[in-house]
Amino acid sequence: MALDVTPDTRDLTAARMSRMSGTGRAPRVVIDDDALPPGPRWPVLAQTIGLLRFRHAFHPWLRRRYGDVFTVRLVPGGRPLVFFTRPEHAKEIFAADPEVFHAGKGNSILGPIMGEHSLLLQDGADHKRARKLIMPAFNGHALRDYRTLVTDLARDEVAHWPADRPFRSLDRMNTLTLEVILRVVFGVTDEQRLRAMRPRVTATVDISPGILLGWGYPWLQRFGPWRRTVENQTELDRLMYAEIRERRAAPDLAERTDVLSRLLLVDERDGLSDTELRDQLVTLLLAGHETTASALSWALYEVGRDPALLRRAQQAADDGDDAWLDAVLKESMRLHPIIPMVVRTLMEPMTIGGWDLPGGTTVGPSIIVAHQSSENHPDPEVFRPDRFLGQSPPAHTWIPFGGGARRCIGAGFAQMEGVQVLREVFTAYDVHAVGADEPKVRNITSVPRDGARIRVSPRR
Ligand code: HEM
Repeated sequence: MALDVTPDTRDLTAARMSRMSGTGRAPRVVIDDDALPPGPRWPVLAQTIGLLRFRHAFHPWLRRRYGDVFTVRLVPGGRPLVFFTRPEHAKEIFAADPEVFHAGKGNSILGPIMGEHSLLLQDGADHKRARKLIMPAFNGHALRDYRTLVTDLARDEVAHWPADRPFRSLDRMNTLTLEVILRVVFGVTDEQRLRAMRPRVTATVDISPGILLGWGYPWLQRFGPWRRTVENQTELDRLMYAEIRERRAAPDLAERTDVLSRLLLVDERDGLSDTELRDQLVTLLLAGHETTASALSWALYEVGRDPALLRRAQQAADDGDDAWLDAVLKESMRLHPIIPMVVRTLMEPMTIGGWDLPGGTTVGPSIIVAHQSSENHPDPEVFRPDRFLGQSPPAHTWIPFGGGARRCIGAGFAQMEGVQVLREVFTAYDVHAVGADEPKVRNITSVPRDGARIRVSPRR
């Protein structure tokens, strides 16, 4: 599709990308080593690579080597990241005052894509206001409105799966969850515009850490992959602003139940500007798509490894036993966390888990360690959905969605979507896992390295 960029959209995109491009560089915080919990003394680049590329082995290794609380130092400048691994520590962090425990700073690397108004990047009063406006679009009532749409899209997707031939379930789930989130965010809309948006959103999710880090050097944006990223962003922005503009004037706005329309119906005095809407919508599209796809593909793969679990899943699908399908999804996110940890930056000195930490320190619970600990989850390496049936694991031991004032706003949506999709798959097919798989790092999320390959055959 040709780039038909109106000057104002190009200006807006360029302004955002250059304004936010320095934000990947955290302010240099000089913190005395003795004040911090123990950690490796390796060069900071080695520690950073360990954390970015090998997180699944690195978190548990650090826990074994240094105990419940440890420090990793990261580029640039060796800034410290203090890990907490016990549930009572996670509780302290999640329950803490969000005015002191900022989350937006830890996500600042996402600024050039998501924009400064993104829920993920905001803190303080701005975050509180935006969260209050967006939350109703994901409450129980709204979720019921989206359910039929999700079921229909899932049924449609599943009907096209090849029989008796291995395929990467992650790829199919990515296609499906992108479609779901686009329809939920925009509702029924111009199909041509949606068609143009799909590859733009996918290309945005595909951005690698190398590109993200490159934003610290805006001159790079004239070259190769950085230039293509800017072009892709400009085009996505153009499509989003066009959609927002048209929707403001839509005669059926008041009857619509999609997220954009709900946000536009907010009392005008509190309403979001076009730029704020763009940032929040891009955030929802990106945060709400590959995460859910990864969780779902692991769920299919794990159930497909065990004939007894498959029979149980099919029974649950036939009986409308959503609780069991929900437990499958929860267990999938426990065994294969999608996000490795949650981070907060201290705005003033604080004591956590008995450690006195200076202001400026970044802290966070490790989701990987919490989910793998045998104290929290007996036989942690076993995929056993029943552990979530009729009971919840002890507080703060299952934290795939983070917690407190920043808990994932789409958690309920992801679980609702997951159950609808699993029901459609297990109603239609026998599912068998193909080969062995393991998690790999993909930018911020973790995904199955081989795409959680499965083979399906229609149920007799
Ligand atoms: C399995 C799927 C998902 C996982 C594992 C996941 C995980 C997370 C995590 C760990 C956080 C950080 C929480 C914290 O800092 O305490 C988060 C935040 C967020 N998630 Fe999700 N997420 C998922 C699906 C979704 C969906 C479907 C949406 C949107 C429809 C979404 C939108 C967001 C947003 C906007 C935030 C920022 C919330 C804030 O800072 O106030 N996520 N998610």
